[in-house]
Amino acid sequence: MTPIVEFIQLHPVVLKVIAVVLLIHGVSGLVYLIPKVVFSRPLPIRLDYLFYPLMSVWFPVMELMRPPWWRKKWLERSGVAEGSVVLEEGFGFGTSPVIAARMVGPTGRVYALDVSPTSVGALWFRAKLYRLKNLEVILAGAKHTGLPQNSVDVVFIADAFHEFPDKEGTLKELDRVLRENGTLAILEDTRGKAKKAAALAKESGLFSLVEQDGKFRRFQKAAATHLPETSVTEEGWAAKVGRASRSNG
Ligand SMILES: C[S@@+](CC[C@H](N)C(=O)[O-])C[C@H]1O[C@@H](n2cnc3c(N)ncnc32)[C@H](O)[C@@H]1O
Repeated sequence: MTPIVEFIQLHPVVLKVIAVVLLIHGVSGLVYLIPKVVFSRPLPIRLDYLFYPLMSVWFPVMELMRPPWWRKKWLERSGVAEGSVVLEEGFGFGTSPVIAARMVGPTGRVYALDVSPTSVGALWFRAKLYRLKNLEVILAGAKHTGLPQNSVDVVFIADAFHEFPDKEGTLKELDRVLRENGTLAILEDTRGKAKKAAALAKESGLFSLVEQDGKFRRFQKAAATHLPETSVTEEGWAAKVGRASRSNG
């Protein structure tokens, strides 16, 4: 499929209509926010719920800046292939998870997580429109995936890691859900942010850097250092039940 055909397939008229609706949604959010900022009037709903629809103003811009073939290239570089289980965190309008779902095919699975109800709503609608049965949309914060331990091959995060409020907590959660030798790929919008993300990942001791290219960093999950929560060593079990282990006589 040529890039042009791919672009048209991913952006039919209906998607442009959605983008305009989201834009109006975003602008109306802004109008709602002005009295709060100017007159310090309390708002009837939480401020962060207003902020998320505002982000949708940027969706059309992000789509133009990052065309589908560009996204596909970085997904491939991250190791997404047929049969992979992929988790994307902070997906915005959701074009990358749609592409990833096509790349992994019916034997793979894509989990797309975002904290914004606007993003989740838009991708849920797109997944239905394209009949993508292997794409699951999750409304949650980055460190609460709710996925089983050791269940994911590739975690892909594009221009979102710097927005996560608890980066250490998020890295721990990604380490938990990634399989042995699993990949964490972080693409940032500046080299500085990519460097910061790499420093944090290194500091955590959970990931080793295996590739870097401009604003892109690819890490591999470090060799297993933790025992699963349910398993204890013989000594640990002995201490727990209050008797000497066999090795101690
Ligand atoms: C700049 S946009 C990402 C753009 C998108 N990845 C792309 O490639 O076009 C950042 C996204 O991160 C999401 N986000 C911010 N904080 C988050 C958090 N704590 N957990 C999950 N997603 C979050 C935002 O809702 C937004 O959709």
